[in-house]
Amino acid sequence: MTRPTSAAVIRRAHAAGFAIPAFNVPYLPMIEPVVQALRDTRCFGFVAVARLEWEKFEAGGPRPVREEYERVKDERFTRLHLDHTPVIDEDLLAVDYMAIIEEAIALGYDSVMVDGSRLAFEENVEATRRVVHAAHEAGIPAEAELGAVLGHESGPLPDYEELFASGRGFTDVDEARRFVELTGVDWLSVAVGNIHGAISGAAKSQKKPAARLSIPHLQKLVSATRVPLVLHGGSGIRRESLHEGMRNGIAKINVGTTLRQAYEAAIPSGPDAARRAVYEATTQVIRDELALEGTADRIPEG
Ligand code: 13P
Repeated sequence: MTRPTSAAVIRRAHAAGFAIPAFNVPYLPMIEPVVQALRDTRCFGFVAVARLEWEKFEAGGPRPVREEYERVKDERFTRLHLDHTPVIDEDLLAVDYMAIIEEAIALGYDSVMVDGSRLAFEENVEATRRVVHAAHEAGIPAEAELGAVLGHESGPLPDYEELFASGRGFTDVDEARRFVELTGVDWLSVAVGNIHGAISGAAKSQKKPAARLSIPHLQKLVSATRVPLVLHGGSGIRRESLHEGMRNGIAKINVGTTLRQAYEAAIPSGPDAARRAVYEATTQVIRDELALEGTADRIPEG
């Protein structure tokens, strides 16, 4: 049996109109119940870690995540993804992003993401090209972001309805076309009404606003780019938007806040309860919100 690459898995989901969920793990004990939930629902998914999850939470770094993933992985259903590697981070500090990307590649991550979305267009292109080159040399796909998926910054988020109505930060269609041509990026994270869950202050534990997606805008991005698109900020998006998104070119959906909040809320009851809470939250997202149960059976080998 050959093992489908992450690129093949996303290609298949994209062609068939469903998505591969990527579950973020800001705490190492979350990895095992996420893998277990994917196996039990026969859903193909990624275990994902972003730099902010070892800087601001307890994921430890790319290596501890890799080691824990190795211990519990089930490659019939899972792959390991390096999420947001910012060039400029949420506190507006410059990051040695290539060092992180190279470390993850050397550790055997199955795909990587560079986030140059806080840069000017040309700088984002330049950083993404470097990462795409390094990833392709290693035979793995690279993801990048264009547009502003807000929410990770400290301070209050602008009113969601105002944000949506103004289209502020939405990925520009012409830029998206040029970005994909110039960088050769495999998967593109876009902003079409989605927002990230907050990671600091009191907002970190609050329920996210129920975001929705501009499907007409998404459709324009799909025809302009012709690559699988990625939806960040997957927690708490209205169910009908998630499903319309999948039917309209979204092939990867990142989910962080729902699982993190479930884990953190259960921690006072002990580590077993916290792991169980992650298992239940992951299963619920797969079954009820995304309706992706059984989708691993639709991904051929090789
Ligand atoms: P949420 O935390 O809002 O689900 O977003 C997760 C994400 O997009 C990680 O890249």
